[in-house]
Amino acid sequence: MRKFNSVLMLLVIVGLAGCSSENPDSPVAKRKHVFKAMLASKEVLYKMASGQKPYDPKIATEQAKLLVSLSTKPWPWFAAETQATGKTSAKDNVWSQKALFQEKITRFEQEAQALAAVAGTTDFNTYKMAYRRLEDSCASCHKTFRDF
Ligand code: HEC
Repeated sequence: MRKFNSVLMLLVIVGLAGCSSENPDSPVAKRKHVFKAMLASKEVLYKMASGQKPYDPKIATEQAKLLVSLSTKPWPWFAAETQATGKTSAKDNVWSQKALFQEKITRFEQEAQALAAVAGTTDFNTYKMAYRRLEDSCASCHKTFRDF
C-alpha cells in the first residue's frame, strides 16, 4: 500500500509537471480542462451509482445537469488545425473518421440528457441504468479515439 502510494504521488508530480509546461490557452489544454471537469462530475455520479455513497437525487440532478452543460464543450477544441499539436492523447482517427467521432459525441450528449432527465427519481435502479449508459458512452468513444 505504501509503495502504491508513493507511485501514485510520483504520477501526480509527473502529471502536474506535464500540465505546467502546457500552454493553458492552447486548444489541447482547453479540451483537457473540460474533460477533467466532466470526470469530476462523473465521479460523484459513479460513487452514488456504485453504492459507495448514498444515492441523493438532488446531488445526482445537479451533477447530471452540469455534465449536460459540459457535454458540448470539448468538441470545438478539436478543430482540424489542432491535429497532432500539443501533448495530446487523441488518436489521429478523430480527424480521419469524423462521422464516427460525431456519432459518439451525439450518443454521449443524448445519454447525459437522458441521465439528467431521470436523476431526480427516487427509483435507484432507474438512476443506475441511466448512469451505466452514460458511462458506457464515455468509454465507447475513448476506446476508439483516445490513446491511453
Ligand atoms: C466523442 C468522444 C469522447 C467522449 C464521448 C468522451 N471523451 Fe474523454 N476524451 C476524448 C478524447 C479524444 C480525449 C483525448 C484528448 C487529448 O488528449 O487531446 C479524451 C480525454 C479525456 C480525459 C483526459 C484529459 C486529460 O487531462 O488528458 C478525461 C479525464 C476524459 N476524457 C473524461 C471523459 C469523461 C468522464 C467522459 C464522459 C462523461 C468523456 N471523457 C467522454 C474523447 C471523448
